[in-house]
Amino acid sequence: MAIERTLSIIKPDATRRNLTGAINDRFERGGLRIVAQKRLRLSQETAERFYAVHAERPFYRSLVSFMVSGPVVVQVLEGESAVAKNREVMGATDPAKAAAGTIRKDFAESIEANSVHGSDSPENAAQEIAFFFAGTEICP
Ligand code: CMP
Repeated sequence: MAIERTLSIIKPDATRRNLTGAINDRFERGGLRIVAQKRLRLSQETAERFYAVHAERPFYRSLVSFMVSGPVVVQVLEGESAVAKNREVMGATDPAKAAAGTIRKDFAESIEANSVHGSDSPENAAQEIAFFFAGTEICP
């Protein structure tokens, strides 16, 4: 197993309910270290570019509107197999299908307002981290 990094976003439904600390606690208990973190408001253009891979999906416009509806917290998480570990801690995209004890099972409001985003592969993690963070902002 290797030490990896993954990009995490705490989404507007979670920041609105003041759940940043509760969600960070799940990451840290799961063995993930928060090595970079900033709270910001995504612009329409940034949200569209970040989710461009979903541009043809029926939920794209609604997803972009949701992601600009309030502050988000973008983060770099580091640890053993961080991409897979974070996906385990988050649970399935649809909270109705997420396992007990996962972030999405416990906190998500819907398949769209699902509280957290996490990279789905080490390759995408590298791209998504570079999308939000300069190397100098990451403090392992
Ligand atoms: P995320 O991990 O950020 O990646 C893409 C996002 O699109 C996903 O989490 C959900 O917020 C959203 N999403 C995925 N599938 C659907 C769907 N069927 N309906 C609405 N939103 C979805």
